[in-house]
Amino acid sequence: GGSELANVYDDALEKGFGLVASNIAEPNIMMGLMEGAARKNSDLLLQLSGGASTFAGNEDPVDGLKAMGAYIDTIADQYDIGVFLNMDHQTDLEFIEAQMDLEIPSSIMIDASHEPFEENVARSKEVVEMKEEKGADVLIEAELGQIKGVEDEIESEEAFYTDPEQAVEFVDRTGCDLLAISVGTQHGVAKGKDLELRPDLAADIRQALRDHGLDTPLVLHGSSGVQPDQLQRMLQHGICKVNKDTRYQYEYTRTAYDLYSEDPTNIVPPEGVDADRDTFFNDTDWSPNKDVFDPRV
Ligand code: G3H
Ligand code: ZN
Repeated sequence: GGSELANVYDDALEKGFGLVASNIAEPNIMMGLMEGAARKNSDLLLQLSGGASTFAGNEDPVDGLKAMGAYIDTIADQYDIGVFLNMDHQTDLEFIEAQMDLEIPSSIMIDASHEPFEENVARSKEVVEMKEEKGADVLIEAELGQIKGVEDEIESEEAFYTDPEQAVEFVDRTGCDLLAISVGTQHGVAKGKDLELRPDLAADIRQALRDHGLDTPLVLHGSSGVQPDQLQRMLQHGICKVNKDTRYQYEYTRTAYDLYSEDPTNIVPPEGVDADRDTFFNDTDWSPNKDVFDPRV
């Protein structure tokens, strides 16, 4: 639930680690992620976007959430780590309401970052109020600033940095539990250099929030490809959710491709998953939050 996940973020803020939030759309990558996290004794946050839910549910996103929720729960029981589900880049209020009613996710991201400020505040606030009315045990993530690239149904041509003072106003007015900020990362495969990566801006945003008595955990989207030293700096400044999608999709596809290229009769999916478990989750991928802090995330 959300309160349990909130404890993980409290711990993350105190100790300076980040929880990797990884996107899935089907069980294959989920299997590897759980095994990888368990090997590092780290809690795991999986995420489903609207498109992934629709895919997993054979065109019905609510069925997709139910199916993946049951799958995640069942397999997570085999492990001794906390496994949480976030609903990533959500835009549809009706679907968000169903997510709360089903009580499956621990957190939900409302993404209205492509809207003008006032509209972003209004939509994000609506989701926070929905949660409060229902008394749902779920954290709400909202985004301020714009990240370039394609993520699910949302495509941004332009990128804007998050303004620290606006961030304070945004958190104050929306009451969101987590804030996704734009500090130079980009979504997807084509990582350009449109915006310079600015860990210093993450620090300013964190400071501005703290000056106003707000201890809101910050979220970094588009984290695939961010260099370890840069990420390390981000983690020191209140970033404690690190969204990574492309990296794992790429690794899984590459592993499966290598396996099948070695021997064209190698077409049994479980063999791909087994190969994936051993090659995909190397020691540098994890930021374990239980025994060791590995900064090379
Ligand atoms: O919400 C998902 C992340 O922002 C994914 O970004 O695919 O660039 O790692 P990425
Ligand atoms: Zn994202």
